[in-house]
Amino acid sequence: MEHKVLNDPHVVQKKMVAVKKLGKLVGVVPTMGALHEGHLSLVRQAKQDADFVVVTIFVNPTQFAPHEDFEKYPRTLERDLELLRELDVDLVFTPTNEIIYPAGYDTHIEVVELARRFEGVARPTHYRGVATVVLKLLHISMADIAFFGQKDYQQCCVIKKMVADLNLPVKITVCPTVREHNGLALSSRNRYLSPEERTQALVLSRSLQLARELVHDGMTDANKICAMMREKIETSPLAEIDYIAIVAPSTLDELTCIPVFHESRSNANLPRAVVLLAVRFGVTRLIDNALLM
Ligand code: PAJ
Repeated sequence: MEHKVLNDPHVVQKKMVAVKKLGKLVGVVPTMGALHEGHLSLVRQAKQDADFVVVTIFVNPTQFAPHEDFEKYPRTLERDLELLRELDVDLVFTPTNEIIYPAGYDTHIEVVELARRFEGVARPTHYRGVATVVLKLLHISMADIAFFGQKDYQQCCVIKKMVADLNLPVKITVCPTVREHNGLALSSRNRYLSPEERTQALVLSRSLQLARELVHDGMTDANKICAMMREKIETSPLAEIDYIAIVAPSTLDELTCIPVFHESRSNANLPRAVVLLAVRFGVTRLIDNALLM
């Protein structure tokens, strides 16, 4: 079936009411476009788990700070639509700024504590922009399941918290980070890296691998693990570390000691801890993370 490209929220909602009447399970994949294999992996998962898949493409201005790259953020709509057509997506929602934020727009969603730390330090209004637009996209798509990438681990936590706190009737599915063969996590911002920066950025996934190995070998001292990661990253002269932290999986509280495995843990799939990092290479700031199982 040829997919529909719509930009009017009312038309989308009318369509979705009809789709839901047929008893179909609706999945949504929110994106800012410039689609790569990371985004497409979410779409494939949505195709597996849902009967009707909506992809949204909207470069959300409110999640960019004034000095950030909103203006030059890559926009490749024609190619994105082509890729989504190949994946047989049912509906693509491509609103304009004026449609999402009409003159006088005045409502914002703030997940307070979770949004303050890590990414929130360098980007204090970022998650307010993300939470607000994601809530709108969930309402417009009327999704039963929404798909997000583990690549943006803190974003997943903020969205899950919003969904829990506001009793939203939607399941959040987090999909694994897609990487290049060399380990570099795919990101729309990788295209800003010079060839030299790109080579040096490989140290990020290697430092995460080191953390995983140390924990696997029995180390539980979080500060020691972070120090060893720092040492590894600092072998790349172009790397400027913003933060490295080992945190509890859902509260993102910083840990000094990685808890040992308890047989009684209610959810065996939950990692013991998560290691988060943000590192700048020139003007490009990269984030990455790993689950410590
Ligand atoms: P964007 O950066 O376009 O990412 C859209 C989705 O793709 C997010 O859930 C992100 O985590 C996921 N993603 C990005 N790179 C990935 C990778 N290498 N592997 C797996 N998933 C990856 O994140 C946003 O847009 C925005 O904040 C948004 C949620 C759309 C709100 O505006």
